[in-house]
Amino acid sequence: MPRSAQYLHKELPVRVAHRIAEFRGLPFIVGCNPTILHVHELYIRSFFLLSEFPQIDSLATEQRYSRLVRNLLDDHKDVVTHLAEGFRESRKHIKDETLIHRFLDRILTSRLGIRMLAEHHLALHQDRPDFVGIICTKVFLKKVLEKWADFAREQCELRYGYAPRVRLNGHVGAMFPYIIQPLDYILPEIIKNAMRATVEHHLNTPNNLPDIVITVANNDEDFIIRVSDRGGGIPHNTFPKVFQYHFTTAEDSTDRRLTGGTFGAFTSNTGPTAGPLCGFGFGLPVSKAYAEYLGGSLTTQTMQGIGTDVYLRLRHIDGKHDSFRI
Ligand SMILES: Nc1ncnc2c1ncn2[C@@H]1O[C@H](COP(=O)(O)OP(=O)(O)O)[C@@H](O)[C@H]1O
Ligand SMILES: [Mg+2]
Repeated sequence: MPRSAQYLHKELPVRVAHRIAEFRGLPFIVGCNPTILHVHELYIRSFFLLSEFPQIDSLATEQRYSRLVRNLLDDHKDVVTHLAEGFRESRKHIKDETLIHRFLDRILTSRLGIRMLAEHHLALHQDRPDFVGIICTKVFLKKVLEKWADFAREQCELRYGYAPRVRLNGHVGAMFPYIIQPLDYILPEIIKNAMRATVEHHLNTPNNLPDIVITVANNDEDFIIRVSDRGGGIPHNTFPKVFQYHFTTAEDSTDRRLTGGTFGAFTSNTGPTAGPLCGFGFGLPVSKAYAEYLGGSLTTQTMQGIGTDVYLRLRHIDGKHDSFRI
């Protein structure tokens, strides 16, 4: 365990320093945005706290270090929401879309990596059955999918009063070691999207909604989760934009009760979209960035007029094949 702390002690300041360098590289007008500046300052403060921490050579310093790491995790929990808000305000000043896309991809995936390392270190101190740090040795994918399907249905019912059912098929018995955190971000996002599309495409027949079908495939190298909906597909003119940060059709949504809400209202550690059904335009781009960071992919196939399939592919971490580094 001290080794894990010593590793973090060396690694975290380096990773944080790279993010600070990227904040400095942002166009001046963007860097001045108060919300973005706030996040920038949060990183600077973290850098000093982490880099000035003394060598970890005793149990007492290690415990102190773990407390620092836990506090920093907490300080940074709303960073995704703040970045979503800050860039939404300031992106109109920037001509080069790819610049912001790359910045957000990098900071969000780097943040995921840092959080996984930090949480892994903290979790190594806990004795939980079926867990080694944050690695769950027996992820029962069906259970995780059911949890997020129920969550998305609740969100959908809250908003529309009803929700489509979700059916699971394929390798529903699949069980393998994996890290649940990224699944906990990505799965609700794609299932919520499927829910919203299904309901909005069938407004005249709310009692007869087509099911959302989730298919699981598991093999030696990776596992694939396909979420299929009959929500009418993504129109030709919007399809190329759905993976852009901030792209959303939530504003012209039929039901406005929950759309356009304030960013500040949602404070989750996973991201700005974890709570409400839609509206931030971060669900797909962040999920794709996370999947690719983990050596996988997130792709969509859409049939205009019928529905959409989202494919999430993730590599196993069992060490038999090339996995990913965080
Ligand atoms: N399954 C789907 N069916 C139809 N449209 C979809 C689907 N998934 C995503 N979209 C479209 O892509 C947009 C962006 O999705 P997302 O990034 O999750 O942001 P948000 O849900 O906040 O709008 C949505 O607003 C919607 O127009
Ligand atoms: Mg969404």
